[in-house]
Amino acid sequence: MISTGGFAVPSGPLSILGFIFSVVTWLFIRWPFHSKARNIVIKDKRDEKLFVTPLPTLVTDDPLSTSPKLYRPFRHGPNFITMGIRKLSWDNWIEMDSYFLRYHDMKASELNKDFNSHVKYVDNPTTKDACFELYEELVRYLTHRYPKIYRWEGDKVHNSLTKEIFAFPAYGHYHLDAAAVCLPGFWRLKEKFRMSLDTLHFEAGVPHYAAKLQKSMNRFFQNLTPDKPVERNNFFIQLDDGLHWSHRMGDQAGTEVASWATANSNDLSIDEIHFRSERQTLRRLPRSKAVIFTVRTYFEPVTRIAQEPHIPGRLAEAIRNWDETVSFYKGKSHWDKILLPYLDEQDRLQKERGVVEQNEEVLFPY
Ligand code: HEM
Repeated sequence: MISTGGFAVPSGPLSILGFIFSVVTWLFIRWPFHSKARNIVIKDKRDEKLFVTPLPTLVTDDPLSTSPKLYRPFRHGPNFITMGIRKLSWDNWIEMDSYFLRYHDMKASELNKDFNSHVKYVDNPTTKDACFELYEELVRYLTHRYPKIYRWEGDKVHNSLTKEIFAFPAYGHYHLDAAAVCLPGFWRLKEKFRMSLDTLHFEAGVPHYAAKLQKSMNRFFQNLTPDKPVERNNFFIQLDDGLHWSHRMGDQAGTEVASWATANSNDLSIDEIHFRSERQTLRRLPRSKAVIFTVRTYFEPVTRIAQEPHIPGRLAEAIRNWDETVSFYKGKSHWDKILLPYLDEQDRLQKERGVVEQNEEVLFPY
């Protein structure tokens, strides 16, 4: 999938940049910035103090039985132009009264007529972050101040008057917004650049993504804190020895998306088949709060790793246990008829030599 390539100690500024890029393969910009509905914090850019918005007091009466306030902001005599600001009580941020439905319905009808002429935003992470934060603040305020009208149910906000239901964005989307990818194997950075975590996994056809991974992965990204980095490993079977690019999957300089559908496994021999494995790390950077994804690729001829004790038997067993979806994703039909008999034979030879009687757990922790 992705690789960081070499690892060297930098000397000058350019090599420092190169060093950063070679180590930091993926930079995921967090969107929206982490904040929980029940624990709203505002970062004051001047003094970095954290501010928690106070909860409003509950309105027990029917809010619609209240008459609109009679704001008449003019006085006798000269009316000077002044700022005219007054302290606002947190309770009164958003007022509700008997006019609510009339105004609501008119707004809804205007939005239905022409949404885009009424709603505009600049599509960048800062603006999105602010929009999500505002939504969270509003929901928190309304559900505490007017619970008879606004209430949480599941992960949705319900308005009992209008019967509207709003999906609460439970997590933000992460995008691949900065990356250095030198040894991708069979995909191009330009094909994935700026994609969300979900889109890039769906587009790659990652098996069982919606059912098994999507929810927990997004939750994991949302909750990842700088003090708790993680790592994971994967593996693929590759049809050739291209560390940077598998030429049997497609032309690196071409425009066609390379995949098993475009792969050429004609006249494949066991010596060509390679074991490609990635060791991936994920952590959140402390200052920018971006999520960083590094990938180190390990790439060996399969004939070499098959000499390691237990490996041929274990690998063949793992491959035979893939379901159809995983087998398709890993391109099994392109190489299984060559690889599996070879692994079985190597396993048999290891058993003959008594290799597999040693304790496998000690030799291979994962
Ligand atoms: C908790 C984090 C993640 C998990 C659990 C995860 C899971 C997976 C899985 C299961 C696959 C199928 C191949 C494999 O077994 O690795 C996959 C493929 C892929 N992942 Fe992730 N992933 C994670 C994070 C990321 C991130 C941060 C990126 C950022 C670019 C990424 C990009 C990709 C791509 C491009 C592929 C497809 C490779 C192909 O074309 O087959 N993944 N991921």
